[in-house]
Amino acid sequence: MYSIGVDLGTSSVKILVMDSNGQIVKAITKEYPLNFPKPLWSEQNPNDWLDQSLAGIEEALDTIDKSSVVSIGFSGQMHGLVMLDDSDKIIRPAILWSDQRSTVETNYLNNTIGMEKLNAYTGNIAFPGFTAPKLLWVKNNEPDNFSKIAKVMLPKDFLAYKLSGVFATDYADASGTLYLDVEKKIWSQEMLGILGIGEEVLPELHESYDVIGTLTQEYAKRLGLNESVKIVIGSGDQACAAIGGGVVSHGKCSISLGTSGVVFIHSDEFIKDPQSRLHAFCHANGAYHLMGCMLSAAGASKWWVENIQKSIDYDLLFGEAEEARIINQLYFMPYLMGERSPHNDPDARGVFWGLNMSHTRGDMTRAVLEGVAFGLRDSFEIVKGLGQNIEEIIINGGGSKSDFWCQMIADVMHTKVVKLENDAGPAYGAAILAAVGAGVFQSVTEACGKIIKTTEEYVPNSQNEMLYDQKYETFSKLYPSLKDLFPQIL
Ligand code: XUL
Repeated sequence: MYSIGVDLGTSSVKILVMDSNGQIVKAITKEYPLNFPKPLWSEQNPNDWLDQSLAGIEEALDTIDKSSVVSIGFSGQMHGLVMLDDSDKIIRPAILWSDQRSTVETNYLNNTIGMEKLNAYTGNIAFPGFTAPKLLWVKNNEPDNFSKIAKVMLPKDFLAYKLSGVFATDYADASGTLYLDVEKKIWSQEMLGILGIGEEVLPELHESYDVIGTLTQEYAKRLGLNESVKIVIGSGDQACAAIGGGVVSHGKCSISLGTSGVVFIHSDEFIKDPQSRLHAFCHANGAYHLMGCMLSAAGASKWWVENIQKSIDYDLLFGEAEEARIINQLYFMPYLMGERSPHNDPDARGVFWGLNMSHTRGDMTRAVLEGVAFGLRDSFEIVKGLGQNIEEIIINGGGSKSDFWCQMIADVMHTKVVKLENDAGPAYGAAILAAVGAGVFQSVTEACGKIIKTTEEYVPNSQNEMLYDQKYETFSKLYPSLKDLFPQIL
């Protein structure tokens, strides 16, 4: 039996075919355009997502016995705004998670409505990336489009809707809209009132492993699959990556060193940071999680290596950084695209601080990697302050290829770091959810227990822990000292 995981990313869609032992038998990636029509805007055409997903599924099924496919599940870029009119026509291009146009609306929500109320209604506050400020932006700037809204959905829900005909979403992905009451798992009537939309334009809510329907006749025919193939709603990419990494029990934590950096902490109970520095979201296994999201993690190292050093020799540059001493009086603030967690400051910017004539390129590369590790520790400290005990960090994403960086994270966090045997990311989580929905496994916990294995371990080095603690103390003082000096976007 096969389950298919479809991860709708920002630059491409990844399709995985997984067998009932959790083995990946096929993986296909298909790209689509990402458009920046104006500064700070990022948009995509949902029909490109659909076309490329279908092309990818067809290619993935080329050499597979199609009659053995039992389910398809989705993962997707979170927070994006997709709007359809009453004849299911796409009203305007989707406004993506990375789009920063809604600063005015975000400030209105956080300052005029007030963070306290938002936190009480949803468990979170507003960020320009979230869906609610984008809806308000459309209302304020494109009233004609706003008046046409018959359905509002998240990116992966568009695919699920097309393939099944069922208008649905899951609690975990819906948590990032800022109009779900995350603790109660219901749409927040207060938020719908503030946004000026009715519940009838929103999808039905499900757990991420729920079957919402079966493949429509049209797509079953096109893909050569049975109409009985179950469509499992799946979740946002972060929750799916956590499922794919086995972060499914209390106190488990993952760190993703992708373009952005994410600290993801599982919690059996709903828990929130009273100051809302971390996101308090539902998890795709039916539980909850806390999430800290840094906007530039491996993205900062890529900028340093490829844009500034004009190199692709990561081994050379990271090797030089490893040679440099920890106590070198040099710091880097990694806020190249502003910052989400914990500062929620789109105006924050990158800074090298403390440069002197003795510093080398190795010192500077080290500062970049340390700046990211310290930024992640900022979120980790908040989690620990909320009384969560974390025994182990599962590390994934492109940056985790570097043993040096993994060891640094273990030392900076004072916590053992482990790698996954199979770091297949969110598409793997989506395939696992699809398999659970189809009954291949009884639960997400059972599936992860059976198929997810870890390999290398990085145990904190006590000497380095002490040195990084000293450095972190200074790092923590930099943002508060500089925050009023960053030029404001508006
Ligand atoms: C999470 C987030 C990103 C997007 C893009 O809050 O904004 O992970 O989902 O992949």
